[in-house]
Amino acid sequence: MNKQILVTGGTGFIGSHTVVELQNNGYDVVIVDNLSNSKIEVLNQIKEITGILPKFEEFDLTDKVKVDAFFKKYSNLEAIIHFAASKAVGESVDKPLMYYNNNLNTLMNIMSCMIEYKVPNLVFSSSCTVYGQPDKLPVTEKTPRKEAESPYGNTKTICEDIIRDTLNAYPELKGIALRYFNPIGAHETAKIGELPLGVPNNLIPFLTQTVAGIRPELSVFGDDYNTPDGSAIRDYIHVVDLAKAHVVAIERLLNDKNKENCEYFNVGTGNGVSVLEIIESFERATGEKVPHKIVARRVGDIEQIYADTTFANEELGWKAESTLDETLLSAWKWQENIGE
Ligand code: WQD
Repeated sequence: MNKQILVTGGTGFIGSHTVVELQNNGYDVVIVDNLSNSKIEVLNQIKEITGILPKFEEFDLTDKVKVDAFFKKYSNLEAIIHFAASKAVGESVDKPLMYYNNNLNTLMNIMSCMIEYKVPNLVFSSSCTVYGQPDKLPVTEKTPRKEAESPYGNTKTICEDIIRDTLNAYPELKGIALRYFNPIGAHETAKIGELPLGVPNNLIPFLTQTVAGIRPELSVFGDDYNTPDGSAIRDYIHVVDLAKAHVVAIERLLNDKNKENCEYFNVGTGNGVSVLEIIESFERATGEKVPHKIVARRVGDIEQIYADTTFANEELGWKAESTLDETLLSAWKWQENIGE
């Protein structure tokens, strides 16, 4: 029987791409999602890619009674990948209590059930946001975490601490926190990708919607940073490369290859790229022009961050493979496919 993996938030952007890679590697996936920021059609899109329709349960993971009933029903789970969370930085500033309630209680409900129902393995969706604006670049997993820039970022820091302390108290459990940098792009089939509801906060969906004529112009938030071209620098990673890192992390835990009961890995490309370089790369890769203008910095943005991925490369045997041009082309193909 194939090993069964729970993927919470599995109809979301990173979750759906991870479900595809898990199925490609022979895992039996069950998704839990409340569809608050994704569409149920994603299940059929996944099936179109892999030929397998994931099992799916729709409920809110803040509801402990429903979480408990789920774990009673699915009694053969080998591991959990926990994506389900609210993730919009700006929204978290306006609605901090919703973010703390959702992002913390979902995790605590899941971990309580891991203990009670003896599901030993957890992979957690963390973020480079825990590093704030690093003093030294590139960041390694030993780079000190900093005061979060937003309630969203703070929930990631607190969740890492909840996991660390729970795994220390329950040594039968083990976990890996993957600290994502900036996930972008879409599956090569263009059947799944980023589906921002409303006006996108993030750069790439706003950029592709601008090129598609949905938005009039892309605003570049600042060109007065202390960077080569003045625009801010990030580490943009193809979402499929990121998804593959989750499969490798699951296998590390299932095969007891982990060296500590709680491990952290930076999941980026190791390359810092500026907003203006993104525009250049997109135009080169697609042949499309990106109408844009320079405006003031966005409040809360850091100047630059990119990963030292040595630990993930050596310990996980994982490395991001897609080039930036390929990644941005995949984002454009996805935008052309959905047209919205
Ligand atoms: C990237 C760069 C902007 C929009 C956040 C979270 C992170 C993760 C990804 C959830 C920045 C610039 C953006 C625009 C722009 N969240 N930009 N014009 O802020 O690095 O990371 O989203 O998974 O945890 O912190 O991503 O895509 O919003 O911005 O110039 O219209 O693009 O200033 O330099 P960010 P982003």
